Amino acid sequence: MIKTAFTELLGIQHPVALAGMSGATSPDLVAAVSNAGGLGISGVSDVEGDKMPAHIATIRDRTQHPFGLNLLLHGADDDQMRAVLEGQPAVLSTAWPRDDQDLADIFGRAHERGLKVMHMVPTAADASRAAGAGADIIVAQGTDGGGHIGLVGTVVVVPAVVREVAPVPVLAAGGIADGRGLAAMLALGAAGVLVGTRFLATTESPLHEAFKKLIVDSDGTDTIVTDIADILLGVEWPGALERVARNRLVERWLGRTNELRRRREDVLPAMRQARRSGDPDEAILYWGQTAALIDEVVPAGQVIARMVSEAETILHESLPRLVVR
Ligand SMILES: Cc1cc2nc3c(=O)[nH]c(=O)nc-3n(C[C@H](O)[C@H](O)[C@H](O)COP(=O)(O)O)c2cc1C
Repeated sequence: MIKTAFTELLGIQHPVALAGMSGATSPDLVAAVSNAGGLGISGVSDVEGDKMPAHIATIRDRTQHPFGLNLLLHGADDDQMRAVLEGQPAVLSTAWPRDDQDLADIFGRAHERGLKVMHMVPTAADASRAAGAGADIIVAQGTDGGGHIGLVGTVVVVPAVVREVAPVPVLAAGGIADGRGLAAMLALGAAGVLVGTRFLATTESPLHEAFKKLIVDSDGTDTIVTDIADILLGVEWPGALERVARNRLVERWLGRTNELRRRREDVLPAMRQARRSGDPDEAILYWGQTAALIDEVVPAGQVIARMVSEAETILHESLPRLVVR
């Protein structure tokens, strides 16, 4: 067992959280992670407020263990926030606020209902803002990760955030797929890890099987950090770029973003169809550099069990042997 401030705070077994990935974290996947002793987080930015109670009930049907709900703050509306708080998950997970949003007010409303607040940041300055607003857990996300990211690498941003917000527990995100990553992040001062891409390639993941296979086949060098996906989808993010698969669709629009802005309504339907049909060339696909480390689709519980046992061996046996006194 690896006991940290994060596992103690939430009363869970393992210091591993599933990243709340909107559109990619089904109730089955969330429950599988929580049932395996980690913290399952459901990304609910794509769930409308009136559909939220049913979504939360489905997760509760599948697990008795603590779970979280994630909202991307810059796009979340009042109905979504109210429904998430009323759903009383163990954790409200948040990320990417606008500058004009009052984090202390949002976090305070969650605390009034007994929720813990986990907020993800790409820099130490953002971490300081979130800790000052009362976040219980900070996620330091490095640029290695999939989806929307900042530009500082995980190995730098994690200790920088740990130093900034101590004693608030910090989870490391971006580039962690196995026990080596978990052990390394604990060595950097993190109290656990938040994992996205590794859980996309699991049995319970709702991702199209063709896209899971792409992650398994990838050597991790086939992603690009760009704003093409957001331009195509017509969403303005506060200061984020996104790491996506560098496929035919993305290559076609590189260096032509003005034209894409004009033509997005024409291009979008084909992209949406490609996502539904599992077409690797014409869909926007978010994954991170850990695709280099992912060789098979396995159940989420197995990802956690292997990760923890490998980290235990590294921390308990391999690393201590290196120290000569
Ligand atoms: C497909 C996908 C969707 C994501 N959606 C969200 C989201 O809705 N909210 C959020 O806070 N982070 C989101 N993220 C980022 C994750 O929270 C996390 O920081 C990232 O996956 C960690 O890096 P890793 O992919 O290397 O594990 C997403 C990531 C991916 C790959």
